[in-house]
Amino acid sequence: MRKKIIAGNWKMNKTLEEGMGLVSEISNMLKDEYTGSASVVIIPPFVHINAVSKLIAENSRLASGAQNCSNHKSGAYTGEISTEMIKSCGATFVIIGHSERRQYFNETNDWLAKKVDAVLESGLTPIYCCGETLEEREANSHFGILEKQISEGLFHLSAEQFKNLVIAYEPVWAIGTGKTASTAQAQEIHAFIRGLIAAKYDAGLANSITIQYGGSVKADNAVELFSAPDIDGALVGGAALQSRSFVDIVKAMA
Ligand code: 13P
Repeated sequence: MRKKIIAGNWKMNKTLEEGMGLVSEISNMLKDEYTGSASVVIIPPFVHINAVSKLIAENSRLASGAQNCSNHKSGAYTGEISTEMIKSCGATFVIIGHSERRQYFNETNDWLAKKVDAVLESGLTPIYCCGETLEEREANSHFGILEKQISEGLFHLSAEQFKNLVIAYEPVWAIGTGKTASTAQAQEIHAFIRGLIAAKYDAGLANSITIQYGGSVKADNAVELFSAPDIDGALVGGAALQSRSFVDIVKAMA
């Protein structure tokens, strides 16, 4: 059975006080209302990770993560955050290659491959993001783009390393737009990604990898998305900023 993971990526939102309030609400609501199988990951801005991790320590369903990291271990890289720092603050996941990092900070697949290595070396779990833009989909080049993102960012890994990854398919045109991919569109890409992994490694490994969908996931589309055989959870943006909407998405996962 693949792990089901619902992650909330807060992006650059919430003060510390607001964030702590949100996490307390989520934690309590999950205890009261959810008996399903999903793990839930809270991914706040770096500066809140330590406090969030302490707050969720007693709720075994919850984990925390970072939205980015440096590919360097330590040293003179002003403003950067290393994987060991993230780990020491209690987080266990790190998002790598979110489309906003690719778009606004020019992060390339080759660059992201180094970050994936840094995350794995620290014993943390990368959530490696991939996804095409609207232009790429309209030009029907999305399969090629995804293949490049997956192969250049991840296929240098050994099968042993690859086991410790999570992948998130986030079509750029669905992020923050309210326009989610249809379940059929998302399922098609998830199966395609699994096929790439099977061809490079083997079917057993491909079948064991958690592949999340992200892009305008809401409580009212989550049930259908999660019914698809290759969709193993969600990476949620906007709807993760409120306890009710986020917990309702979690509850959509049996
Ligand atoms: P939205 O859920 O706001 O579309 O954001 C998705 C996302 O980018 C999560 O990483």
